[in-house]
Amino acid sequence: MNLTRRPRRNRRTEVIRNLVQENHLSVNDFIYPIFVLEGENKANEITSMPGIFRYSTDKMLDEIAACVDLGVKAFAPFPNIDESKKDRFATESYNPEGLFPSFIREVKRNFPEVVLMTDVAMDPYSSDGHDGIVDNGEILNDATLEILAKMALEQARAGADIIGPSDMMDGRVGFIRERLDQNGFQNVSIMSYTAKYASAFYGPFRDALDSAPKFGDKKTYQMNPANSREALLEAELDTAEGADYLMVKPALAYLDVIKSLRDHSHLPIAAYNVSGEYAMIKAAAQNGWINGEKAMLECLLGMKRAGADIILTYFAKEAAQLLKG
Ligand code: PBG
Repeated sequence: MNLTRRPRRNRRTEVIRNLVQENHLSVNDFIYPIFVLEGENKANEITSMPGIFRYSTDKMLDEIAACVDLGVKAFAPFPNIDESKKDRFATESYNPEGLFPSFIREVKRNFPEVVLMTDVAMDPYSSDGHDGIVDNGEILNDATLEILAKMALEQARAGADIIGPSDMMDGRVGFIRERLDQNGFQNVSIMSYTAKYASAFYGPFRDALDSAPKFGDKKTYQMNPANSREALLEAELDTAEGADYLMVKPALAYLDVIKSLRDHSHLPIAAYNVSGEYAMIKAAAQNGWINGEKAMLECLLGMKRAGADIILTYFAKEAAQLLKG
C-alpha cells in the first residue's frame, strides 16, 4: 500500500507514544473524598466500597498523613452523623462543636498545607435524608438557604479552604458567597456542584453516611440525566453568583457535560467520580472480570480528556500509589 498517512508510526514505541500523549494524570489533580466517624480508634469498611473506610478523627489523621506522603493533599470530608443527632432542620450541621467543624480544625492544625473542600447540604444531618427542608413532602428552596449559609460559615470558621455546596438549591452559591464575605471570609472559595444529576450511582455513598432519603427521591432538585443544556444554565448562574470552580457529578455517564462546561467556561472544571463508579470497578475486579487498576486509570484519564482539571475520586490514594510507580 502506498499510504502517505500512517498514524501507527506515532504509536510504534513506548517513548514515541509518550511524546505524543495528549493528556496526563497527576496526583495534583485529585481531591480525595473521605468519611469521618464520631469517637476514637474506629475504622469500619464500607461494604459497598471495598477498600474505603469510615475513620474516627484520630485514625483519619494517620490516613491523611499517608496520603500526603503520596502527594494527595486535597480532601473532601463527609461526616457520618449519629441518627440521634439528626433533625428536620439539620441543626447539627452548624454546631461549631459538632463532629465536622472539630474535624476540620484538627486537620488544619496538623496539616496546615492540606486543602479541605467541605460539603454543604443538609442530608447527612437531616432526619428526612433530604438536602433541603421538607415541608409536606416538598423540599423548600429559600428557607433551606439560611441553613446552608450557617453551615458554610461554621466550616469556614473551622478552617475550610473550599466550600462545596452539593444541595442543588437555586441561588445558594450567591447566598453563601455573601454570607462568607460579610464575615471576612473573602479568601474561602466555592466549588459549586453545578451539574449534579439525580443518579443511581450515589448508592454506596448513602450507605457510607446512612443518608438515603427517607421518602421519595431527589428529582425536584437534582438534574434529569436526560439534560445537557440545563447544565449550561446552571453553570451560567453559578458563575454569575461567584463560584470559583464548577463541578459535574457523576463523571462517567456525563463526560459530554464535562466537555460542554469546559468549552463554555473559563473556570476550572471538576469531575466527581462518584461512589457507584468506584464500586462497579471494584466489584468487577474482585470477580476477576476486569483489570481493576487499568480500568481505574483509563476512567480517570477519560475524565481529563473530557476536560476536567480536577477529579474528586475514591481512587485518589490507589492511583497516587500507581502513578508514583
Ligand atoms: C449529598 C451528596 C451526595 C454525594 C455527595 N454529596 C449524595 C446525594 O446527593 O444523595 C454523592 C457522592 C458519591 O456518590 O460518591 N448532598
